[in-house]
Amino acid sequence: MPLSLNDVDLFSPEFKQQSYQLYKKLRQDQPVFPFKLPTGKQAWLVTKHEDALNMFKSSKIVKDFKNVNEGEGDYFLENGAYLGENMLSSDPPDHTRLRKLVSKAFTPKMIAQLEDDIQAVTDRLLAPVKEKGHMDAISDFALPLPIIVISNMLGIPEKDRDAFHDWSAVIVESANDQSRIVENQNTINAFITYIRDLVDEKRQHPDDRLISLMIDAHDEGDRLSEQELIATIFLLIVAGHETTVNLIANGLYALFQHPEQMIRLRQNPDLMENAIEEMLRYHGPVEIAPIRYAAEAMDWHGQQMERGDAIFISLAAVNRDPDVYDNPDQFDIARENIKHFAFGKGIHFCLGAPLARLEAKVAFRTLLSEFSDLSLSVPDDEMKWRPGMMMRGLEALPVDLRQQS
Ligand code: HEM
Repeated sequence: MPLSLNDVDLFSPEFKQQSYQLYKKLRQDQPVFPFKLPTGKQAWLVTKHEDALNMFKSSKIVKDFKNVNEGEGDYFLENGAYLGENMLSSDPPDHTRLRKLVSKAFTPKMIAQLEDDIQAVTDRLLAPVKEKGHMDAISDFALPLPIIVISNMLGIPEKDRDAFHDWSAVIVESANDQSRIVENQNTINAFITYIRDLVDEKRQHPDDRLISLMIDAHDEGDRLSEQELIATIFLLIVAGHETTVNLIANGLYALFQHPEQMIRLRQNPDLMENAIEEMLRYHGPVEIAPIRYAAEAMDWHGQQMERGDAIFISLAAVNRDPDVYDNPDQFDIARENIKHFAFGKGIHFCLGAPLARLEAKVAFRTLLSEFSDLSLSVPDDEMKWRPGMMMRGLEALPVDLRQQS
């Protein structure tokens, strides 16, 4: 039966399995689509590239609920109160100040210096799976890689790495599935306490890593409050973790779904950077960009939005808009002029984009050079996207590996 707008239930477990077809319908019939959040709040889903671009650039669409609501925040689908005071949930001038304090550590030049470190972590993670001849590309490889890299950047001591890894897995799970926040509260509190103690420790014994650099910025004057510092450390862990996991796993899955593109990439390693942009467009890690709010009443395609309404831009939908891409459902690693929004656009454009791109480049380069054959261990129809509205990630990615002889 063809899908209809009545099938659009962003909170149903089926949504992710059929969202690409539903977006086609939405783009045609209701590109700014009204729906209700479970809290009862009015929300809008945006599926066209042009609207998304205008909204990303509009100063009438904001991130900080305090700029549109009095009183309690609407933390539904936000990262929870403990994460509130970070750049992703702020508007200028706070946003400008918070972003500037960490942006120096994330320039392409700074990130390029991490390549050897990322390569070493990649090699270390792949060594045991070489012996076995198979892996879950998520739990064995894509999941630990970004968390080890960000721990190194932040300066998490070696001895705390295992605990840090477990805690951050819980935080990421809570950020993606709000219903787990209450259940995970004790772990989240333990993690906050750990970060607080670590900040104290770094104050006594500074090093050249990011937490110490942020403390310096804080101690120079009243520029980064204690709460903002903690919230920023949280944001860097959450924003940079599952996203990068999904880029590596979804990108590998796209290559499995299109074996001719895998061969093409092996034969033309120069296409690697472009292939990663196509992976970001085709199965981008963030399905729907985090919540925004209408700062005033406005009209979009004849739909009346009120001040305070929630706005969700579907990056997955706009990245397959046929007004922008020829054959948008085709995965083509040599596609030209890929202007995807997988990292967002405008002032909140992903700060970690250079890092994510570099991690993906090292990961794919190593996988293709170490293994002469990589294949999905199960039939494609057994593969499942995890439920949850915001992210696009697979439950598991079982892979058979054959080493280069
Ligand atoms: C493939 C991996 C990644 C993807 C697809 C991704 C995606 C995004 C998107 C879509 C936004 C904008 C959200 C919005 O406008 O509402 C964003 C913002 C952000 N990302 Fe990423 N991200 C990735 C990796 C990372 C990494 C590795 C880090 C850092 C360690 C990071 C840190 C951030 C931060 C701090 C922001 C907020 C920027 C601001 O508000 O000014 N991200 N990311």
